[in-house]
Amino acid sequence: MMTSAPMPRHVAIVMDGNGRWAARRHMPRSFGHEQGVEALVRTVRACVVRGIPYLTVFAFSSENWKRPEEEVSGLMNLVLVAVSRYVRRLAEEGVRICIVGDRSRVSEKVRASWQEAEDATRHNSRLVLSVAFNYGGRWDMVQACRRLIEEGVSPEQVDEATVARYMALHHAPDPDLFIRTGGELRISNFLLWQAAYSELYFTDCLWPDFDEAELDRALAAYAARERRFGDVRPAVEPAPQAA
Ligand code: IPE
Ligand code: IPE
Ligand code: MG
Repeated sequence: MMTSAPMPRHVAIVMDGNGRWAARRHMPRSFGHEQGVEALVRTVRACVVRGIPYLTVFAFSSENWKRPEEEVSGLMNLVLVAVSRYVRRLAEEGVRICIVGDRSRVSEKVRASWQEAEDATRHNSRLVLSVAFNYGGRWDMVQACRRLIEEGVSPEQVDEATVARYMALHHAPDPDLFIRTGGELRISNFLLWQAAYSELYFTDCLWPDFDEAELDRALAAYAARERRFGDVRPAVEPAPQAA
């Protein structure tokens, strides 16, 4: 009997390595970020074609404000350019865009741009693209706690399922496959709660070089993993959820 390889329902990616990609070409880091947007659009399409329903990408971390002012403002401008250049086409392809992260610190312009992306794609469901922007896993836990308390949830009501409902990615199942490009072997404060049982995949490929072949390599590695979730026997997909 033919059995198809297990496919992740949710892929999360730390899109790292834009700066080094540009430096190797004696180009400014901003050029690496621009090419990073192209790699993102390619990856979204590749996931749509493969029937992966959830993709979450780390675009700007709570800690990335430490970078030189010029780089930060360049990244903010790139949001405006990327939204105006790609959102309409992605909307036509059935992509829904959700922004996760702290919007209070970003400019009115960037906030409006994200709102436009969400509004233009709200009715779609083929692939949910969550863009983590001014996001941090620790921020996510803190904002969930705050909102729980504000809404008067009592201590007895606080369990994993309740907390999960307040986390920024409550609209998606936990990521099955967590990819980091750029060669670093760390999480860098991405999905701390949600990645509890994700399969981790690290590649030296720098993000602007990421393409369908790289994605397929990660998917093949995922298909070869045995997920147990604490049991001694392999689990039957999909992963158990807290929510
Ligand atoms: C990732 O690439 C993009 C962002 C963090 C915004 P980097 O800018 O971190 O690239 P490297 O790691 O310096 O090569
Ligand atoms: C992680 O990359 C954040 C994003 C890709 C948006 P960084 O380049 O900021 O991570 P560190 O500083 O190497 O840990
Ligand atoms: Mg980096």
